[in-house]
Amino acid sequence: MQREANFTNAALMARRRAALPTGLGQGFEIFVDRAEGAEVWDVEGRRYIDFAGGIAVLNTGHRHPALVKAISEQLDRFTHTCFQVLAYEPYVELAERLNAMAPGNFAKKSFFMTTGAEAVENAVKVARAYTKRSGVIAFGGGFHGRTMMGMALTGKVAPYKIGFGPFPGEVFHAKFPCELHGVSVDDAMASIEALFKYDIEPSRVAAIILEPVQGEGGFYIAPPEFAQRLRTLCDQHGILLIADEVQTGAGRTGTWLACEQWGVAPDIITMAKSLAGGMPLSAITGKAEVMGAPAVGGLGGTYAGNPLACASALAVLEVFEKENLLQRSRDVGARLVNGLKGIAAQHKSIGDVRGLGSMVAIELFKNGDLHAPDADLAKRVAAEAAKRGLILLTCGTYANVIRVLVPIVASDAILDEGLAIMAAAFDAASS
Ligand SMILES: Cc1ncc(COP(=O)(O)O)c(C=O)c1O
Repeated sequence: MQREANFTNAALMARRRAALPTGLGQGFEIFVDRAEGAEVWDVEGRRYIDFAGGIAVLNTGHRHPALVKAISEQLDRFTHTCFQVLAYEPYVELAERLNAMAPGNFAKKSFFMTTGAEAVENAVKVARAYTKRSGVIAFGGGFHGRTMMGMALTGKVAPYKIGFGPFPGEVFHAKFPCELHGVSVDDAMASIEALFKYDIEPSRVAAIILEPVQGEGGFYIAPPEFAQRLRTLCDQHGILLIADEVQTGAGRTGTWLACEQWGVAPDIITMAKSLAGGMPLSAITGKAEVMGAPAVGGLGGTYAGNPLACASALAVLEVFEKENLLQRSRDVGARLVNGLKGIAAQHKSIGDVRGLGSMVAIELFKNGDLHAPDADLAKRVAAEAAKRGLILLTCGTYANVIRVLVPIVASDAILDEGLAIMAAAFDAASS
């Protein structure tokens, strides 16, 4: 192959279009050559600052040396056995570590899968096996993955659910609290009580699944009071509380898990994304008693808990400790929020700047009218930013939110450079 001549973004996009289905979206017409820390270079040698972090996967940055070392060492020993056939120690050590780190004054157990959606699927399987109930309550605007149960739980139709039904039954959606858009914690709780009246009796509900901060839904933060009231409601009715920390976990919100900030503990926690810093790994951690419910052989998967991914996840934990990344996550968040407030002061379209730790977003409205979400502007800002060398992600039920998921290891200089590009992108997109 004549690599040089054919390795332009345009040439590769043409091949992509011919060979891949359109259902597989692509944010930018950019093909990556290499990446380091919070920077990426494309096949044409152009540098980008990465404020997307592979959608929350790269909290420790691209190619952190400690992760590269851990993966390489594991690579030299073995890459696969299937844990359920021949076990290996890093899997067990990782489970021990995650059990110790999860909130709740009770014994915990963990097991591993590969993707976030699989973690969610398995959390529901465990909850159903334990409670011997079928119902699951999720929230409007929530995102839980692209598998059948993941789609059923997801509270956003376009694009995730269109054409793919019917979905598994016994899944119901309540309101997620969001003061900005007039949904109080009382309203959200009342919407669950309404489900108990209209759709399913509480004694048939196995679990309520909640993102501590809605990810794809728009970075809306669940107030701790909401989690506390859910906990009480769950305890009243024997329902399990599942925290879907696939996007919020691994230090993104300033604590290892966002639910540590609730003051109450969930029964089951799902993690993925930054857990193994770019290697595919997801985790389900929960109350030992609950996790013991499925029959032998009911859990697992051929690749689940891959040894390279477990080695990488253990290195992630080490890096968090050594580099004090939880504090850094809070500092990165404060710097971003401060910078974004500066941009918002210049642009009426930015109706809200919010964040928990380094999980930070801005929400855009036409003329600052909270009833007029501006998805077009969000798209234009992301496009203008990319032209200037910054990768930005949008999200939200109305696609009018720009979210920042920059590697936590990014330097202040990189953060400021990214913020300056955002300001310029806003100027260009607004004119
Ligand atoms: C909260 C949440 N749950 C589940 C998922 C699904 O994870 P995956 O894409 O790894 O299947 C995501 C992905 O964005 C997520 O944000």
